[in-house]
Amino acid sequence: MTFAQDFFIGAATAAHQVEGNNIHSDYWAQEHMTHTEFLEPSGDAVDHYNRYSEDIRLMADAGLNAYRFSVEWARIEPEEGRFEEKELAHYLDMIHTCREHHIEPVVTLLHFSSPKWLITKGGWESDEIPAYFARYVRFVMERLGKELHYVCTINEANMGLQVAAIAERYKKQMMARMQSAQTDGTVQMGLNLEKMMANQEAAAKERMEIFGVPRTEGFTSPRTPHGDEIVMEAHKAARAVIREIAPHVQVGLSLSLHDIQALPGGEENAAKEWAEEFTHYLPAIADDDFLGVQNYTRTRMDASGSLPTPEGAELTQMDYEFYPEGLEHVIRKVSEDFKGALLVTENGIATADDTRRTAFIETALSGVNNCIADGLPVKGYFYWSLLDNFEWQKGYSMTFGLIAVDRTSQTRFPKPSLNFLGNYCKR
Ligand code: BGC
Repeated sequence: MTFAQDFFIGAATAAHQVEGNNIHSDYWAQEHMTHTEFLEPSGDAVDHYNRYSEDIRLMADAGLNAYRFSVEWARIEPEEGRFEEKELAHYLDMIHTCREHHIEPVVTLLHFSSPKWLITKGGWESDEIPAYFARYVRFVMERLGKELHYVCTINEANMGLQVAAIAERYKKQMMARMQSAQTDGTVQMGLNLEKMMANQEAAAKERMEIFGVPRTEGFTSPRTPHGDEIVMEAHKAARAVIREIAPHVQVGLSLSLHDIQALPGGEENAAKEWAEEFTHYLPAIADDDFLGVQNYTRTRMDASGSLPTPEGAELTQMDYEFYPEGLEHVIRKVSEDFKGALLVTENGIATADDTRRTAFIETALSGVNNCIADGLPVKGYFYWSLLDNFEWQKGYSMTFGLIAVDRTSQTRFPKPSLNFLGNYCKR
């Protein structure tokens, strides 16, 4: 299996997950709350902020020809309206280092983390978001625009709606459990309930002290339908700025896309889920140059809703079904409706067994190859992630990386999968 010379084979990271000490961000503040949902704080992460040249060199040595990374809004605008030139100089240096190693930099402008001040202003449910985001994007693009060919405005723009759906399902399950516990007279349930309420109140009080609001509307908080529209407005405003300042740049956003499969009777549910995850965004993204496709597994649905993973299925550390075939299915499905180019901006597996990672990559890439053979405009594949890193609320427990890191010394240990991926790349 070979790919054209200009096909991108690369890896992806996100600033907050790898850089370390992102102290002005909403995530940093939440990680350090007494009532935190995070297993551990991000701390120094894998010190990519200082070690990016080593990491880019490792990528190049293995043969990769592209790197997707994000610039951090909270570093660039740590206080509202105060922009840091030195942070842009840092990212410019990263871009130059990529170019020296013949690696195409693909930059994401927002990958989940936001400046803390933005949350105080109402966060991602506020109608002011598109204007704030566009102002930040202008500052970034004026400095970086001429150096870039591809810019992703927002990572997984649909994440908030997905989180809202999961939160809703969880709430229903909890309610059902509580009701049955009450009817069969389980007293502990009442006691736990009190504690739960007390915890919630204490957390709201703490959020008030830290952010000045009782509910934090971060980018990955459960999103309302109005908030979902705001995210699309922010994307469109950013796209307009990019086209004004750097018209040569290819612009798009990325979406988290499950391979949604309908079992007999589940067709209606599956269609509804796909509409929420993908098709309702079409009017907002139809003018984009590319779509970033991000897939990790599949979801099977029947008439009752989504089903648990099949009995005996191999599970990843994230408890997802090992299902690399999903990527090909998703690419085929999105290209029925989206007519621009496609970049696989994320696809990967959390596992301690690197041979399963290479198997995952091999199947996923063969699916990509099938799509290209059928004339679909797939322009690149970025494995998630270059490095073992900070997996948000799960901390450092998930190992997605092509490179392991001993975080006590920050020593890098490339895994065989790094070379395996690089070998697909013809320079
Ligand atoms: C996100 C990454 C995350 C990865 C693995 C994607 O949803 O963009 O930030 O680490 O999945 O869970």
